[in-house]
Amino acid sequence: MITFSETTRTFYLDTSNSSYVIRILENGAIAHSYYGARIPHEDLSYYNMFRPIVFSAVHEIGGQQISPETIMQEYPTFGRGDYRIPAVTVQGKDGSNVNELHYAWHRILEGKPLMDAMPQLDVDTESVQTLELVLRDAVTGFEAVLYYTPFEESDVIARRTVLRSIAQEPIMVRNACSASFDLETGDFDMITLRGSWGRERYVERYPLHQGVSAIDSRRGASSHELNPFAALVDKDTNEHMGQAYGLSLVYSGDFKITAEVDPFASVRVQIGLNPETFSWKLEPGEILETPEALLTYTQAGLNGMSQNFHRACRNHLGKCADRSLKHPVLINSWEAMYFDFDDQKMIQFVKDCAGLGIDTVVMDDGWFGHRDDDHSSLGDWFIYDRKLPTGLTGIINACHENGINFGIWFEPEMISRDSKLYAAHPDWCIHVPEREGVESRCQRILDMSRPEVVDCIYEQMAKILETYDISYVKWDMNRHMTDNGSAALPVDRQSEMGYRYIRGVYSLIARLEKRFPHVFFEGCSGGGGRFDFGILYYMPQIWTSDDSDAVERLKIQYGTSFVYPPSAIVAHVSACPNHQSGRTTSIDTRANVAQGFSLGYEFDVGKLSQQERDAIKAQIQKHRELENLVNLGDFYRLRSPFTSDYCAWQLVSQDRMQSFVMFAWKTSYVQPAPQYLKLRGLDPEKQYRIPQLNIVRSGAVLMNVGVALQEPGMTDYPSLTLDLIAQ
Ligand code: GLA
Repeated sequence: MITFSETTRTFYLDTSNSSYVIRILENGAIAHSYYGARIPHEDLSYYNMFRPIVFSAVHEIGGQQISPETIMQEYPTFGRGDYRIPAVTVQGKDGSNVNELHYAWHRILEGKPLMDAMPQLDVDTESVQTLELVLRDAVTGFEAVLYYTPFEESDVIARRTVLRSIAQEPIMVRNACSASFDLETGDFDMITLRGSWGRERYVERYPLHQGVSAIDSRRGASSHELNPFAALVDKDTNEHMGQAYGLSLVYSGDFKITAEVDPFASVRVQIGLNPETFSWKLEPGEILETPEALLTYTQAGLNGMSQNFHRACRNHLGKCADRSLKHPVLINSWEAMYFDFDDQKMIQFVKDCAGLGIDTVVMDDGWFGHRDDDHSSLGDWFIYDRKLPTGLTGIINACHENGINFGIWFEPEMISRDSKLYAAHPDWCIHVPEREGVESRCQRILDMSRPEVVDCIYEQMAKILETYDISYVKWDMNRHMTDNGSAALPVDRQSEMGYRYIRGVYSLIARLEKRFPHVFFEGCSGGGGRFDFGILYYMPQIWTSDDSDAVERLKIQYGTSFVYPPSAIVAHVSACPNHQSGRTTSIDTRANVAQGFSLGYEFDVGKLSQQERDAIKAQIQKHRELENLVNLGDFYRLRSPFTSDYCAWQLVSQDRMQSFVMFAWKTSYVQPAPQYLKLRGLDPEKQYRIPQLNIVRSGAVLMNVGVALQEPGMTDYPSLTLDLIAQ
């Protein structure tokens, strides 16, 4: 709900449990008054200590001399006395970066204005309002239009900014945050998700300090290294209690999130495109839309924050909110045979899967052009006839004979120099003139900022998808950007390429999904290198990491759940010794770690024993029972693999009738201590049966006393699961 008080010129934006308050000051500057727990609509002007300070610029506001750097700002600029990081920087005809925005007008809209061809929260299941707040800098010649849409039920506010040129000549946008706000105290810890290939989204927590704490990506993708998410939390906030502010960007390219603590210990928080790899030229009258940012506030600790993000995603984020989509239990050919397959081998693979309950067989990399290894053929999306002389028909028939669907791998954004496409269009890859392009995984990146490139890849993919009965596509992206330049853009627009690229990628996915609505798309980027709400808008699940080792996955899945719901997190049971770590774990532990997420398999089923086949059958049956919990349940992190030798998580259905618990030991002790685990989210009044412990206890007892778990015996990396069924 959004309310405007004419008397105090204050906006109140409320969700079920949070309030966000903005005030128009006497000189037209926009002050941030409050973001926190829900409060009544009272006048908060008494609270702000706007004042003059020594060695600082002053402005006259309401008859008083005030230093702009003492004002809690909402969308600040640089050059007029606020020395903190600006939310927006525009270079006008005077060549300077001096800007100053003032209130122009506002309106409160019913619903939510949607951007064209960009991922964002949709609104078909909840009625919402949007504040459109227009600020103007008449000297530089631009308006910043701030959009705020509070989502009541998830306690999330969607924010974005549109810049509009009102100049007579071109202006250059050097920086444009999606969202910015200042809080009066910066005495917070920052939590971010860091990593690398094979080690994505490890949780890191560190105190803010005077100056800038920042994370970003300059890799052309949201990246394995730092996820486009940050939380600011009180020192004593833990998984279950305490204040947490969460920020996430609905975007898949370069981003930046900053928290700048000033000398008076207040903090400026910003999220948006990364100004280091971005600028944008605006012609008179043109607009620039920034990606959407999601903000959430909770007092229910980190689990509360995560559940807010999960709810917003499940209820409003494109395909993630599409209840008609069924996440497949798939098996992927990659770790089973890598590039080494032909149709006979693939048909045998399909036959070996029969009867296990697997519903989709996915043929991974190596089926197109003349691809025998990673040196060739990206960009040539036609069947490799040496490997597949009768096309895909034989394999798909084998699938159908066994009641299985067929899925296929694409890496649409890439080009190999050894390809027909490169021979025909050497300038279609991202590059700068007079520099030999840098290779990574023997490939270059197609310039998706160019519509003709997007068209060409669309046509090729559409041909495959219309010729064959394909129900699933794995969309990969296996290198990061270098040589950031486009042959199609003029010199002063080269830094637009990264943003145009991502928008080109989104447009390609959107076109394919429109034409092939029955195809389920899964995101991937060398594992989890592009795990963000931008991709999830189009693809409701993402391959979480190329590291499929169950013990490593404890950290990776635990960290990923900070922002993304379990159904988005793809977890495969893979071969042992594990192909990435060499570790051996039991098939039960591999399955226990993968259950509770979007389950799949990644090994040569033909090499399995009957016992292992029986185990897989039982796992898939179990997954079907848990499916609703995975798709719609509340996820609780109970024991952190980052700070303990254990890992535990729990899913609880929305009606609190069903729950599932996973507990894993990261190491084996001699004479291990029993583990006492308090459960969460249950109905205290209900009685729950736990077959594995052979007990029936109330939710009150299970949440306050808990369960006692004994390490199950002489084995490495043991784990167990519990089912809770309300009586
Ligand atoms: C990436 C993916 C893998 C596999 C390979 C194929 O690394 O994450 O799952 O598809 O590419 O080249």
